[in-house]
Amino acid sequence: MITDQSFPWDTWRTFAAKHQPNYADAGEVAAVTEALRRRPPLVFAGEVDDLRQQVALAGRGEAFILMGGDCAETFASTTADQIRLKIQTLLQMAVVLTYGASLPIVKVGRIAGQYAKPRSNPTEERDGVELPSYCGDAVNDHEFTPAGREPDPNRLLDVYQYSASTLNLIRAFTKGGYADMRRVHEWNRGFTSNPAYARYEALAQEINRAVKFMEAAGADFEALRVVDLYASHEALLLEYEAAMTRIDSRGGDLYNTSGHFLWIGERTRQPQGAHVELLAGVRNPVGVKVGPNASADDLLQLIDRLNPQGEPGRLSFITRMGAEKITDLLPPLLQAVKDDGREVTWICDPMHGNTIQTASGVKTRDFETIMREVEGFFASHQEVGTAPGGIHFELTGDDVTEVLGGSEHLGENELGKRYETLVDPRLNHQQSLEMAFRVGGLLRAANS
Ligand code: PEP
Ligand code: CO
Repeated sequence: MITDQSFPWDTWRTFAAKHQPNYADAGEVAAVTEALRRRPPLVFAGEVDDLRQQVALAGRGEAFILMGGDCAETFASTTADQIRLKIQTLLQMAVVLTYGASLPIVKVGRIAGQYAKPRSNPTEERDGVELPSYCGDAVNDHEFTPAGREPDPNRLLDVYQYSASTLNLIRAFTKGGYADMRRVHEWNRGFTSNPAYARYEALAQEINRAVKFMEAAGADFEALRVVDLYASHEALLLEYEAAMTRIDSRGGDLYNTSGHFLWIGERTRQPQGAHVELLAGVRNPVGVKVGPNASADDLLQLIDRLNPQGEPGRLSFITRMGAEKITDLLPPLLQAVKDDGREVTWICDPMHGNTIQTASGVKTRDFETIMREVEGFFASHQEVGTAPGGIHFELTGDDVTEVLGGSEHLGENELGKRYETLVDPRLNHQQSLEMAFRVGGLLRAANS
């Protein structure tokens, strides 16, 4: 039980905080956070504890984490259809991975709270006009006008509302029978002339046969009716995250109730920074993004700050090195953390180290390059004798054209057809499925 009581979780205020909005009116911010503190929690301590235990299993190679969703959710795209297609995509990927690897797959959406973005450039210039960059719907508007780009703290109340309605839909889909494993067929869509869909259809038939056989043999399938799908986002906006941090009445522990799993981004992971301090005190499983500039000492300092006792499942490192660098950079980090001995869970983000621009200036990623980083991740763990614990994708259930390649060989001149992301390019539905088949193969090889 989370109590209504707010907690003045304010030690982070004395630490340096990067990438925070420059709000014009501090009184307005205080009124918003006061209102947020009175709102019910979005997730519950017991669910958070369950997830932490599953992340621990993944750290030991006894489960595998699938994280995925938009780079940035937007208020406009928080619709029933878009949420359903995203959930369906994650569930389909999880089925493919479970079947491929015979391992429990821990399903975690980048969803129900992923509304704030750190930006490399604080301002954007168009035709000689310079305005603050778009930092996600939690902060300002994408529209390139002075009023649109002004940070507005009232948007934090909208974030709460959109996150709550998304979680409500997730709970309905995953607990109400929609996610029943006996319906794997119905989740497929599109033309089976697409190789990813055809392969999924064949798999669904195989699963159906296996389920029918087990049912005939008298197995109890109630467990197949519901699934656990957890919510995660980058804990970027300190005022919001602090206001959602509550005391659990069972033992007086603190939980961040804005999502089950929170991560700290590559740009805000300073061991003596405010983001690390904010998450140091909560019981949630937390992640830290680790880019190519991270040293072994940086990681050990982060363990000291975020998981000094080495509690399994508490801390994940989400590596995003780039396909060309991963096999050089990752093994020494894995070795240093292995030598330290405190358990962490390693997750691969093959997206953020592999963003490119086409000659005409479109931000994209290439399917095969993404895949190469995943392969490098598995190879690095094989080399050091550590467990590849999970995978983190930017994806959508929609048929967008943002990432190059995949079985439909999406080319540069097709990117314009349905390029909808406001920030980073995402795998579309069929590319996501194809990725799941390929990762399932790697996982099976790693465990055989
Ligand atoms: C992201 O996950 O969208 C992101 C900004 O990643 P990173 O912090 O790794 O750059
Ligand atoms: Co991104």
